[in-house]
Amino acid sequence: MDLGQIFTTGNVASYMVNLFTIPKDARIIEPCFGEGAFLRALTDSGYSEVDGYEIDKKLFDNVKNKYPKYNLVNADFLSCNSDQLYDGIIMNPPYIRHEKINDLAELGVSKEKLSKNDLFHSLPNTANMYMYFIVKGFSLLRMGGEMIVIFPSSWINTRSGDSFQKMIKACAGIKRRIHISGEVFEKNALVEVLILKLVKGDLSTNCKAEYVHLSNDKFINLDAPEQSDVVSWKTSFSKLANVRRGLTTGYNEMYINPNLKNKKYMRPIISSPKNICGFSTKDAKKDWLFAPLDEDLDKKCIEYLKYWKKRILENKKPQTLLNKIATTKTWYKLNLFDCEGIIFSYFVRNDMKFVMNEEQCIIRDNFYIIFPKIDKWILFSLLNNYYTYYQLESMGKKYGAGLLKLQRYDIESITFPDIDAIKENDMHLLQKYGRQLAQKGDRKCIDDITKILSAYSECNFNKIKQKYETKRKKRLEGL
Ligand SMILES: C[S@@+](CC[C@H](N)C(=O)[O-])C[C@H]1O[C@@H](n2cnc3c(N)ncnc32)[C@H](O)[C@@H]1O
Repeated sequence: MDLGQIFTTGNVASYMVNLFTIPKDARIIEPCFGEGAFLRALTDSGYSEVDGYEIDKKLFDNVKNKYPKYNLVNADFLSCNSDQLYDGIIMNPPYIRHEKINDLAELGVSKEKLSKNDLFHSLPNTANMYMYFIVKGFSLLRMGGEMIVIFPSSWINTRSGDSFQKMIKACAGIKRRIHISGEVFEKNALVEVLILKLVKGDLSTNCKAEYVHLSNDKFINLDAPEQSDVVSWKTSFSKLANVRRGLTTGYNEMYINPNLKNKKYMRPIISSPKNICGFSTKDAKKDWLFAPLDEDLDKKCIEYLKYWKKRILENKKPQTLLNKIATTKTWYKLNLFDCEGIIFSYFVRNDMKFVMNEEQCIIRDNFYIIFPKIDKWILFSLLNNYYTYYQLESMGKKYGAGLLKLQRYDIESITFPDIDAIKENDMHLLQKYGRQLAQKGDRKCIDDITKILSAYSECNFNKIKQKYETKRKKRLEGL
């Protein structure tokens, strides 16, 4: 049963608690406390009047004894009957699609039951579970009370999101709106998320969107993505694909192109954008990655490992390998993962390009790997066109010598046309041109793809191509 259990990291929980401006003796509710990240952060910030709900008995039992002063209940928050009004609500509500809500029937939660509750009448039938939590939350908040909530930013783009946004704005003002990316949840959750601070009854909303990235426990304030006056598409990247960095060896000297003859211990790896010509990995120059799959190593390989082990111990670095040597016999083994997808160098020098990893090689960490959720050739075309290139030229950070650096969140901020609205024939053409681009590497295909997509944009082909080229030229000229 999917209870939407994605837990907030301690850092983000503290960050959110710090958005409260209510006094320390305020009465606060956490409607679905899970493993208790917010309970911990509230305690650390000095709040003591806290109530909490959690439907999962196991989680409840694990957490309840840690907070004997709090009033914690193992029950469904949505059907709780309480006259108590709260000064503050903090939550990361469960994200459960409407089709899945009835799966929770044995816990007393079903769409039928929810639809019978007058409180939820403003919500569309397709509402996600987190929307019910926010509506219920408002009903328990006193006028002037504060709600701090983290939830997927897709509400901005979806149809059910429209009426939900109106509902929120009718009963509360949005005081902070923080788009947060990076290490937000305990497990990598693949949705884009937003933190809102809402104040019930104070309907003025004049906050600017903030952008924050969390990496290695640090919150980095980002500039707002440049508002593209040109590309106004709404489909988010996360709807069509996922992205991650390629493989980090932690010690390239030892792992890349080892001085060994037996190829049994090696796998082809693409380690530099310079080694790729065209738009496919087929003709790319591959390096060799030292990656023995089993423990059955020949004499030369054992000697090779002995040599490097000695060097690592003498030099006392790299630290990750030192730790591994101390704890495991197979310290040299890498955590390999599937790299089949579309790759993109995180430094762009001249032309931008996304490359199909047709050879399914391992890809090093100076590339991102994009894993399609839709047909890979259609996604390939949606990436290789002037609309996408222009967005990335606008978002990336310029380095000296005409270099453009793109972060993972830049890739995740690309928007696309609504693919459900693309005509069938155009979909076929996108597939065809995508394939041709990979096969022949002919940049004319990029024009062809852009022309097809121009039917779904207010910006025509000539304009977007010219806009992109001007931006690129300026970058290369260092302007
Ligand atoms: C997204 S998790 C967040 C947990 C915690 N607040 C955090 O941020 O780490 C949502 C939690 O809601 C709980 N949950 C789901 N439906 C619930 C309901 N109807 N009433 C109370 N808790 C519920 C799940 O078991 C899960 O622990």
